[in-house]
Amino acid sequence: MSSPYARPGFYDEALAKGRHRDIVGGRWDETGRAQMAALMDHGLRPDHVLLDIGAGALRLGCKAVPYLEPGHYWGTDASRALMLAGYAAELDARERLDPVQLVEDADFTFAGVSDTITHAIAFGVFPHLESDAIALCLNGLRRFPQLECVLLTVFLAPDEATSHRQKDGVVTHAGRAPYHLSEAALYAMADASGWSLNRDDRMLPRGQVMFRAEPLRPSPSSPR
Ligand SMILES: C[S@@+](CC[C@H](N)C(=O)[O-])C[C@H]1O[C@@H](n2cnc3c(N)ncnc32)[C@H](O)[C@@H]1O
Repeated sequence: MSSPYARPGFYDEALAKGRHRDIVGGRWDETGRAQMAALMDHGLRPDHVLLDIGAGALRLGCKAVPYLEPGHYWGTDASRALMLAGYAAELDARERLDPVQLVEDADFTFAGVSDTITHAIAFGVFPHLESDAIALCLNGLRRFPQLECVLLTVFLAPDEATSHRQKDGVVTHAGRAPYHLSEAALYAMADASGWSLNRDDRMLPRGQVMFRAEPLRPSPSSPR
């Protein structure tokens, strides 16, 4: 348990000090804009329905909620209190989002989230979690029949590297946060849970790498 998010009392203490922006890593406007740009490059339109996995204090939500049709944004996070802090302090367009659509979920079950999700993003989430969280998340997302793609970010490192210095200097690890994994391991994981994966080579904060995953569905003509 090396992730700060897993420390008992972490959210309560930081939220009591009004530090909801710091909890998600600051760079508020820039990172929200970068996520929105990526989603639009990958086809997000106002009539789509977005699931923001590990939504934090709604750094993306502040951009996505005004863009999407009312009710078309859903967020999950290990801390609902964090999402609600962002809702109260940061979101201008509160009438466009019922807070019931901010769902506490630390296990990627997505229980209670609408079946109508068409796009999902998990930005800056997996660097804080052991790599089996990625498989858990991809398996959980299989239940959304209209899901076109999920964008996710990770730190990459060569096979077998226990620690690795990323280009901007941050040191990542195989066995503790911030976590990395090899690109081959990520592709194998996606393949095993029924997703095709494509790397998106845009520059991201701290040297994270974005991937687009699409669910592999049997074509209507395949034999049963
Ligand atoms: C670096 S922040 C990124 C937040 C948001 N995606 C953004 O870009 O503003 C990582 C987020 O992952 C959430 N998180 C940590 N462990 C989680 C888990 N097991 N399930 C869901 N969310 C988790 C944290 O609460 C935090 O909001």
